[in-house]
Amino acid sequence: MLSNPSPKNPIGIFDSGIGGLTVAKSIFEQLPSEDIIYLGDTARLPYGTKSRETVILYSIECVKFLLKRKVKMIIIACNTASSVAIPFLKKITKIPVIGVIEPGATAAAKNTIKDRIGVIGTNGTINSKAYDLNIQKINKKIKVYSQVCSLFVQLAEEGWTDNKITGLICKEYLSPLKNKNIDTVILGCTHYPVLKKPIQKTLGKNIKLIDSGFETAKEVKNILLKKKLSNTKNKKGNHRFFVTDYPNKFQEVSERFLGQKILDVKKIKLN
Ligand code: DGL
Repeated sequence: MLSNPSPKNPIGIFDSGIGGLTVAKSIFEQLPSEDIIYLGDTARLPYGTKSRETVILYSIECVKFLLKRKVKMIIIACNTASSVAIPFLKKITKIPVIGVIEPGATAAAKNTIKDRIGVIGTNGTINSKAYDLNIQKINKKIKVYSQVCSLFVQLAEEGWTDNKITGLICKEYLSPLKNKNIDTVILGCTHYPVLKKPIQKTLGKNIKLIDSGFETAKEVKNILLKKKLSNTKNKKGNHRFFVTDYPNKFQEVSERFLGQKILDVKKIKLN
């Protein structure tokens, strides 16, 4: 295990599967020189429907895999895992561990003028109330309205980002939120940025969507600079991808999430 990380070490990212690639995309764009190791626990996804205990256990196993590869920092690119596992993951490592909840909550609290924020996510994330707690830590006056949007995960993976059914599902899930007079909505699941267009269309252009992954990448940059861990080399970082299962259509889905083809993916076993 690495207790004294150097700027040359890679950044470790993990997610329940492919959703975290939307976070990785922002990391690649904002930190192009960094070497990245991405782990998708595709054999055990989704995490969003599993119990807190199971998600914590799986997350610990993902982190142990990354620590063996001498990463200098760990990004939990999964809202569900971020919402329940951070304190446990911080206990087993000395390197910085960051989830997507705090950066998303901070950006939303900064954006809201009406002090009314909507949060959409998986069952696990919404039930944990992690976004509510983080927002209220920043400003107690802010009211948070949450909505589980379970089917969005399947829609994003299926590539149904702009059709009639997606429009209807968006309407069904988001209409109650729309009636709450909110001005900001957090995309509290790593799959949801893929559905930004229909979500925005349903909510209307006056509601600002916060992409937690994008906000997390900004925060990662700050942490690396502060800890003098930024890789300042002048060439493109090396990106390596590991999965615990190689699902059907992985290549196709991952391209949609990451915006580029993943040419080399290695299947590994955890524990
Ligand atoms: N990556 C998960 C999240 O952000 C969504 C997919 C899952 O349920 O595993 O919550």
